[in-house]
Amino acid sequence: MRYLITEGFLKYIICLLGITIFLLNGNGISFADKVKIDYDNGFFHQDDEEDYDESEGDDDDGEDDDESHNAGRNCLTSDCHSNGNEHHFSVGGTIYTDADGTARRTGAEIKVIDATGTTTILRSDGLGNFYSEKTLNAPFIISALYGGREVKMPIPAPDGGCNAESCHVIGVAGRVFISTNDLDLTGTVTEAASGRVSSEISYNGDIKSILDAKCIICHSSGGIKSDVPLTTYTEVTDPRLVIPGSADSLLLKRVDKNSSIGTMWKYLNSRSDYKKMKKWIVKYNAQEFSSGQVSSVGEAISAARVSLRQNGSVRYKAVTDAEGTFVMKSVKAGEYILKISKKGYKTYKQSYQMNQSNVIPLEITIKKK
Ligand code: HEC
Repeated sequence: MRYLITEGFLKYIICLLGITIFLLNGNGISFADKVKIDYDNGFFHQDDEEDYDESEGDDDDGEDDDESHNAGRNCLTSDCHSNGNEHHFSVGGTIYTDADGTARRTGAEIKVIDATGTTTILRSDGLGNFYSEKTLNAPFIISALYGGREVKMPIPAPDGGCNAESCHVIGVAGRVFISTNDLDLTGTVTEAASGRVSSEISYNGDIKSILDAKCIICHSSGGIKSDVPLTTYTEVTDPRLVIPGSADSLLLKRVDKNSSIGTMWKYLNSRSDYKKMKKWIVKYNAQEFSSGQVSSVGEAISAARVSLRQNGSVRYKAVTDAEGTFVMKSVKAGEYILKISKKGYKTYKQSYQMNQSNVIPLEITIKKK
């Protein structure tokens, strides 16, 4: 039962959707199924999983046995803890401390919400394993918490065995890990080119910043949907995605909450952003620049105040330099509100999930008042 994750998946995880689902399902938590933690076994093995084979008392022979074993294996297959076997697992996996799976994360809290809305809290044991023998129904909404850092699956898991669907294997979604590294967050702040020019909607002036904030985390290299990148004008206006002038454009339908294929709406999650995208494609024929607008990126904004807030208070702050660049040192993973303010400009705010690895520099444009 290998519960694996790549950096791609981590990016994937940070999506607001996960949070939304969570809020919707978070009621009525019952701490029903606490799995015993075996701290005696709390060392981290680095060897292959075969080393944990059933040499000593094991689960398969039906003896009560607090020790878990076989970290990293899919334990929900027929030969182990599947239906029919005595210790049948409905959910099980392994949590690591890094993407390479160097060490297992003991004591992480895994929250599983099943299809009926039942919440189950599990804890990873000395081998990083967690499991439940309770009857739970897929799909599952799963998150893992350790030391205030939370890793969430943005979409429901179709199966309780983390690599049962070849999901968390290296190269796909990779190992699930919670590291305790704090990483630097860097970025640049520039002036949005369109704000001063006209009310026209253009890729450069309006659409790019929406996609950068909400989509490219998955739709760029390293992201889970890197085969459909949305980072440049050429990529976004691929004829398959955008037909200038047509509301039937795939890009638009995928973010339309009333469309049967509108599964990307949850990431966009804004009526006004949707309207902008629609106007851009239908009325402005998906133009790259507004008329009269120069094809350069907006000017760098110096001395803008950048902050990351949680629960209304500032946790990290920085000021942009002459190049519009800022650096925030050693930011803890987690959810923040990113706020940028500068006199004469509209205050910029967006939710931001600090990642545990591979933090992409932010590129933010702000508009003149
Ligand atoms: C959490 C990761 C994630 C985010 C964030 C995300 N997408 Fe996707 N996107 C996917 C995945 C996975 C698929 C393929 C599965 C599907 O179609 O639902 C997909 C499919 C698409 C497709 C169809 C691609 C094709 O070739 O058919 C479009 C268009 C798209 N997304 C646009 C967007 C837009 C626009 C946003 C931002 C508002 C966005 N996505 C945000 C993961 C994401």
